[in-house]
Amino acid sequence: MWTESVRHPCFCVVSLFRKEAGEFDMYITEREQHLLFDEYNTPIHVQRHCNEVARVAGILAEALDRHGYHIDVKLVYGAALVHDVVRPWDQHAIEGGKILARIGFPKEAELVRRHMTYGPFHRVEDLEEIDVLCLADRTVKENHYVGIDIRMDYLLKKPNMTEQKKERINQARESTRLLIHQIEGVLDCTFEQLFS
Ligand SMILES: [Fe+2]
Repeated sequence: MWTESVRHPCFCVVSLFRKEAGEFDMYITEREQHLLFDEYNTPIHVQRHCNEVARVAGILAEALDRHGYHIDVKLVYGAALVHDVVRPWDQHAIEGGKILARIGFPKEAELVRRHMTYGPFHRVEDLEEIDVLCLADRTVKENHYVGIDIRMDYLLKKPNMTEQKKERINQARESTRLLIHQIEGVLDCTFEQLFS
């Protein structure tokens, strides 16, 4: 496993930047995203994936917010922008969360920390930021919105797939499909219409 201290001796660039600007209550934007991607050498295909997940998560968060949900749109969008910042590392969600916490983004850190293991989703009436981030991540394949079925089919074809893993993925597919259907009812709009 790569260690942060070896690869990234100047990890405080972003926090210094924020301190100088006196911006302690800001959200993660493309500016912080670029600094973090540079600092952690995030592969370009992962950067593009993060951008697409942020696009989808932002659209969904805004749509839910317009329909009376109390979703912090900027929080979800910012967390999505950097959710895989250290994807090549072991336990990348936990490590990414630690990085964000250390530079002063505790809420985004918590979302990133949970994004690989989160589940089951909340009920449609109780959706939170973590649901939006994970729904976006699970309907994007690489740098395109593809929907839950294509994304899950892609996972099922991965090497080292066991029967147990297949069963878990298929269960997740069913519950996610149902939730998407319920959200589409609330928004009166399909995911295809929203994200394509
Ligand atoms: Fe992702």
